[in-house]
This record gives sequence, C-alpha cells and structure tokens, in this order.
Amino acid sequence: MSRRAVLALSRRDFIAAGAVVGAGAWLGAAEPATPASLPLVTKVIPSSGERIPAVGLGTDALREGVRDEIRAEIKRMSELGGKVIDTAAAYGDSEALIGDALAAEGLRERIFLATKLVADGAGERGGASGAESFARSLERLKTSRVELLQVHNLRGVAALIPLMQQWKQAGKIGYIGVTTSRGSQHSEMLEAMRSYPLDFIQVDYSIANRDAAEAILPLALERRIAVLVNLPFGRSSLFREAAGRALPDWAADIDVKSWAQFFLKYVISHPAVTCAIPGSTQVGHLEDNQAAAHGRLADAAMRRRMEEYWDRKS
Ligand SMILES: NC(=O)c1ccc[n+]([C@@H]2O[C@H](COP(=O)([O-])OP(=O)(O)OC[C@H]3O[C@@H](n4cnc5c(N)ncnc54)[C@H](OP(=O)(O)O)[C@@H]3O)[C@@H](O)[C@H]2O)c1
Repeated sequence: MSRRAVLALSRRDFIAAGAVVGAGAWLGAAEPATPASLPLVTKVIPSSGERIPAVGLGTDALREGVRDEIRAEIKRMSELGGKVIDTAAAYGDSEALIGDALAAEGLRERIFLATKLVADGAGERGGASGAESFARSLERLKTSRVELLQVHNLRGVAALIPLMQQWKQAGKIGYIGVTTSRGSQHSEMLEAMRSYPLDFIQVDYSIANRDAAEAILPLALERRIAVLVNLPFGRSSLFREAAGRALPDWAADIDVKSWAQFFLKYVISHPAVTCAIPGSTQVGHLEDNQAAAHGRLADAAMRRRMEEYWDRKS
C-alpha cells in the first residue's frame, strides 16, 4: 500500500474514531509531528463493524500501591484517543482500581472495558462459579455491563460460553472472547475458535514470539474473529534484549521513535490484530505506548524488515 493510501485510510479511521486529536494537525505540515498530531490507528471488530483504537492498556496484577498511577494512565490514555482496557477477575486489585478511576474521572462511557472470568471446574459448577465471578467483576468495575467478557486461559469454556451468550443477549456484555498467553495452549485455542461463536480471542504475540502468526492469526482472519494481543513486550523481556541497540533509521518511516513503539507497531500492523494491550504502571510508558497507535503502519515488506533487524541481534 502506498504512503498516500495508508494516510488516506488512517484519516478515515481517525474521523470514524472521533479522536481527540485536532483535525487541523492533518493540514499543518509546518509543525513537527507529535504522537497526538498524527492520525489515530483504529481497527474493525469483524463481528460488528465497530472500530477501536489499536493500542490499549493491560492491567495484570495491579496492587493498591499503584492507585494514583493507574488513574492518571486511564485519564491520559483517553486524552490521547485510546479506549481499550484489559483486566481480569484474577488480577489482584486491578478491577477495583479501574472501577474507582473510571468513576472518579467520569470516563466509563468512553472506555472499552474487557475483563475475564474465573471459573472453578466444569459443567454446572463451572457455570455457577463463572456467574459469581462476573457479578463480582461488575461490582468492582462499578458498571452494569462490560464491552468484552473473556474466558480466562480457556478454563471452563464449554460451560461458560452458553452463559455468556445469554448475557450478551441480555445486554450485559457486548462481545464474547477467550484468552491464552501460552504457546502450549494454542491448539486448544484453535479448537475453541472452530467450536464457539467468538467475537474476540486474546493471544500472546510479539516480534520475539511469532508462533501465533503461524496458525492462530490466519484462522482469526478466516473466521472473522477480532484479536487482542497480550505480552507484546514479553513481560518487558524485549526491552532487556534491546538494551544498548539503536533503533534503525528507517523506523521513522512508520513514525516509530522508541523500542516500545517498534514492538507495538510490529504487532498492530498484522492484518488480523485488532488491538495490543501492553501493561504499564507509569504514565510515561503509557504515553510512549499510545504513540504507537498514531501515524503510519508497517506494510508486509516493512514487517519483514523489522523481523530481520530484530533477529540479527542474536
Ligand atoms: N492469559 C491471559 O489472558 C493474559 C496473560 C498475560 C497477560 N494478559 C494481559 O496482557 C497484558 C500485557 O501483558 P503484561 O503486562 O504481562 O506484559 P507486557 O505488556 O508484555 O509487558 C509489561 C511490562 O513492560 C513494561 N513497559 C510497558 N511499557 C513500557 C515502555 N514504553 N517502556 C519500557 N517498559 C515498558 C511494564 O513496566 P511498567 O509496569 O513499569 O510500566 C511492564 O513491566 C496484561 O497486562 C494483561 O492485561 C492476559
């Protein structure tokens, strides 16, 4: 795709998303580009046609000690045009901190909230514990519905999906999803994608962990299932691997100014990926990550170049 076509597409995305970025930034070529002055990248959820920004916020295992940071991150993400937050019943204080922050900032309506069920066992017992888990999540998140509810690590999926379909019909959830973050579960994930009416999957994928691109992402495209990507930084191991290495000059061609943006642009440039959900507990990190949801995406040739550059390190 030409640069012009990418910009045209991104401009439509930008307008469709109703982003906070001023439209004048499109025309003001004299000003240096800042993340917020570049177009916001949004992606389509195939089952509905709804668009969401391509970088969100992961919130694994937050504790009370990061209450202020999380509130500041959510506020800042919204200012920058981002809206997806991924959490889970099993993530320590995360749901409660997010619920408090959204209520205090008055941001609930602007956020695409995704959480996950904890189910104990299969069959009726699994269903009952899943229902309890969901009720507790809604209470902690201070909301009557979530945009996306996911079966955490596919545990209890057979018992939970019929329940989730009822909740979807009742308007308590917008979309149904299942998650994994382990290659050892990828075959189970493929089976679930073929067996259930899923709107979303969530899977581990990064420039250093490309297994999902072999089987899972192609099937997601084929079955029109949206994809959230977890562990885009390999739980921060990618930063350790990149330490001391310079970014290539050509990273500027896709508006990349940091390693975090390099890693995230790689992930969200895959046609099957709807949104990456990097975890961060610092506003500076969040701003860096949100910048990856602005500007040009990598085409197939650029993605290969990124892989080759990354692989050369070892
Ligand atoms: N099975 C599942 O469903 C499953 C499993 C795992 C994760 N997840 C979801 O996926 C999300 C992402 O995974 P993750 O948080 O474990 O790992 P990750 O996103 O790969 O990495 C997070 C780490 O990267 C650091 N970081 C973030 N932005 C940075 C930046 N711009 N520069 C330097 N360091 C940066 C963070 O540090 P700071 O905290 O200091 O900012 C944190 O240590 C989770 O939060 C969770 O929502 C789901």
